[in-house]
Amino acid sequence: MSGEPDRPSNESDPRASVRRRVFVAGAGIMGSGIAAQCALAGYPVTLEDVNEELARRGLANATRALDHAVERKKIGPGDRAAAIERIEVGIGLRRAESAQILIEAAPESLELKRQLFRAIEEFAPATAILASNTSSLPITSIGQELKDPGRLVGLHFFNPVLQMPLVELIPGHVTRSDVVEAARAFAVSLGKTVVTSRDTPGFVTTRALAVLVNEAAWMLYEGTATKEDIDTAYKLGFHHPMGPFELVDLVGIDTTVAILDVLWDGFRDSRYRACPLLRTMVAAKKLGRKTGEGFYSYRPPGGTA
Ligand SMILES: NC(=O)c1ccc[n+]([C@@H]2O[C@H](COP(=O)([O-])OP(=O)(O)OC[C@H]3O[C@@H](n4cnc5c(N)ncnc54)[C@H](O)[C@@H]3O)[C@@H](O)[C@H]2O)c1
Repeated sequence: MSGEPDRPSNESDPRASVRRRVFVAGAGIMGSGIAAQCALAGYPVTLEDVNEELARRGLANATRALDHAVERKKIGPGDRAAAIERIEVGIGLRRAESAQILIEAAPESLELKRQLFRAIEEFAPATAILASNTSSLPITSIGQELKDPGRLVGLHFFNPVLQMPLVELIPGHVTRSDVVEAARAFAVSLGKTVVTSRDTPGFVTTRALAVLVNEAAWMLYEGTATKEDIDTAYKLGFHHPMGPFELVDLVGIDTTVAILDVLWDGFRDSRYRACPLLRTMVAAKKLGRKTGEGFYSYRPPGGTA
């Protein structure tokens, strides 16, 4: 998707030297982008995943995103090098002890996120902010088993993080106002524009997006048009920068189905009934760009990855 230019890192900004660590749990599509963005803004970052291979893959993806920003002349090679230097990969939560803000970017599962935050809370300093990058799950539910749920907030970044200027801020029902304001200031320090949403399933953006891509999937399923024509119709008819199938491949088809299920659970409205075609693609492990194949193929000709 097209977006505003990336913000250059502020190496010359004296505040950068006093910025405290950001701990990112989950080094997938979003965690790697968030890590790159935070590092570019001068924060030391720990990028953590369940094993070293995944954490290192996340760092490689963060590096690629920064390379791409240099190619597009949004940042200079010095900014890129300094940002990469600020990212360390981590396994386990020990480094959370020195973090000012801990951002969870693990898969879209309520139980997984609850467990992860319970573990994070054991390590994080009492004054640190806990933020979830969930696209759809209620923040209040994610935090309900925390000792201090008042410090959990939703900070919803968009993909690709370096190019997308928006962050959705979601205070849970018990989130303290100082935490909300600190999270807002943090997102602004990354160069993002912040919109605030109440803690309802899918917030503003995900709810709108889910319906848009699900409707496209139903049209394909029913044989209304080809995926190429549906993508072209959305792009040329509505000025969307990407078609719905290009977009769902970028977001991840598994993530999209998980989001639709959260909306269905939250509203019990047939608008959110996931098209069976999306579920079939998840079962076939055709998840989009991240697996090399979704509605479109991203494998090099003759290649396997
Ligand atoms: N993909 C998008 O476009 C997008 C956009 C906005 C928000 N989100 C949200 O961001 C979150 C992450 O999505 P993603 O697309 O990056 O997923 P992903 O599958 O690409 O990455 C998730 C990563 O979390 C890791 N993980 C699993 N359990 C973990 C644990 N206990 N501790 C640390 N890491 C763990 C996985 O190994 C994986 O590398 C989800 O909540 C999703 O809804 C996604």
